[in-house]
Amino acid sequence: MTTPAAQPPLAADATETIETTEPLVSPQRLRDALGRFATGVTIITCLDPEFGRVGLTANSFNALSLDPPLVLWSLRQQSAQLPAFARAEHFVVNVLAGDQLALSRRFASRRDDKFDEGDWLPGEGGAPVLAGCAAVFECETFSRQDAGDHVLFIGHVLALAQTALPPLVYHAGHYHGLGGAL
Ligand SMILES: Cc1cc2nc3c(=O)[nH]c(=O)nc-3n(C[C@H](O)[C@H](O)[C@H](O)COP(=O)(O)O)c2cc1C
Repeated sequence: MTTPAAQPPLAADATETIETTEPLVSPQRLRDALGRFATGVTIITCLDPEFGRVGLTANSFNALSLDPPLVLWSLRQQSAQLPAFARAEHFVVNVLAGDQLALSRRFASRRDDKFDEGDWLPGEGGAPVLAGCAAVFECETFSRQDAGDHVLFIGHVLALAQTALPPLVYHAGHYHGLGGAL
């Protein structure tokens, strides 16, 4: 076994000026590269005692655990909807079908009549469930964790539904339908 060579200290003199250059992982480069990762599109909802029905378009949704059944997503710290999700005991993840593009645009906006379009019914904890989705996951909030400029939400799936409807797809800043199987 070889002994690793001693590493020089990162800054020999803590007071020396460190020249800054364009960071290798700037927010823009990170956003562009992450955009190459194709995702589905969801509308995530909750019911708030003060604000009523709350929801936003989100593509940070992902699978986390099968046993127990856990899913995750993240919300911007600056989002006006954070106070509602921060105290919600339940949320619903509505996975959009290909013909629900207009609803995705609507829930990515800041309009206050978002729920005037679409066929909505109350799910777990009153969180709105959208008809005609590719899939629906009704969740109890399992944990919330600050993670940089977002809050990471983990949900325990209490109920789910799925259809054979083709999903809406998001890639490199554009909406797509699902291509055929390879
Ligand atoms: C395709 C798509 C995916 C998005 N995914 C997220 C997300 O995962 N998390 C998030 O906080 N915002 C996401 N957004 C932005 C929110 O939908 C948008 O900020 C929000 O609806 C506007 O209200 P707010 O400014 O109060 O957050 C996404 C937008 C689009 C178009």
